[in-house]
Amino acid sequence: MVNVDDGVPAQRWEGGTGWPGVRDKRILVTGGSRGLGEQIVRLLLAEGAHTGTCARTAPGIEALDVSLTDRERTRLFAEALDVTEPGRLEGFVTGAARRFGGLDGVVACVGGSRGGGFEHADAGDWAATWEVNVGHTTRLVRAALPHLRAAGGGSVVIISSVSGWKPGPHAQYGTAKSAQIHLAASLARELGPDGIRVNAVSPGSMLIPGRRWARMRTETPEAYAAFTGAELPGGAPVEPQEVARAVVFLLSDWSSGISGANLPVDRAQNAPTPYGY
Ligand SMILES: NC(=O)c1ccc[n+]([C@@H]2O[C@H](COP(=O)([O-])OP(=O)(O)OC[C@H]3O[C@@H](n4cnc5c(N)ncnc54)[C@H](OP(=O)(O)O)[C@@H]3O)[C@@H](O)[C@H]2O)c1
Repeated sequence: MVNVDDGVPAQRWEGGTGWPGVRDKRILVTGGSRGLGEQIVRLLLAEGAHTGTCARTAPGIEALDVSLTDRERTRLFAEALDVTEPGRLEGFVTGAARRFGGLDGVVACVGGSRGGGFEHADAGDWAATWEVNVGHTTRLVRAALPHLRAAGGGSVVIISSVSGWKPGPHAQYGTAKSAQIHLAASLARELGPDGIRVNAVSPGSMLIPGRRWARMRTETPEAYAAFTGAELPGGAPVEPQEVARAVVFLLSDWSSGISGANLPVDRAQNAPTPYGY
């Protein structure tokens, strides 16, 4: 079996369907210049999807762009913007839909936490953390809705976290991530009649260069060893590429029966143990 437009042999599966079934789909991923979002964007482009993404800083977008093959670059739509700025995200969705001639899916991947522990996080930290996780997700889905409906349906993936299930410090983050899981199930029921599937993916702790766990591994190796020993049955965190594969599966028609789910991709980090949760 050969993909018609590039001559590259596709993986053969029983029945002749190419995995993972996102070729020519039109997908938006917020926060695709680094970390998990970057891996989702790269996998989508490699699999032949038309892919739109955004990040606040232009150099990150440019670095992604120059690292792509010519064929991948023609399928990329990328803009520098802050998803929390009123109107910018909506403009990005409209621009991408115009460029691609419609949309088949969106991934709300931007997320994060502001402020410290409970006594050190003020109301502004709670509001900012809510907005970057839940607020941007709701505005992304609302902006994409007319395009998904026009396509006869689509797939929405919301990137939550193991922190959305598993209690821990920085409650403003866990609360927002928990709300994203609830949002996926609620929207799955509300938008299901339009053929729109909505799922959450909850990654475990990932080693993203420069981010929390990667910094901890370098700066405080004892604390990192204690963390992985207590939290990760396999001793190693999940890779962002592994999470990206789960996300792309949920964007594909291969997951057509799955909606309203929360899919943990965390090597059992979320599982309670005899010693505690
Ligand atoms: N890292 C983990 O261990 C972990 C674990 C579980 C869940 N998660 C979740 O997974 C998702 C991705 O996390 P990550 O660690 O891969 O993130 P990351 O490394 O911080 O990357 C975030 C990406 O989003 C962009 N971005 C950040 N804020 C933005 C904003 N306001 N507007 C537009 N773009 C923005 C960044 O580019 P710019 O900086 O240029 O804007 C970058 O491209 C998040 O929802 C996070 O909560 C992460």
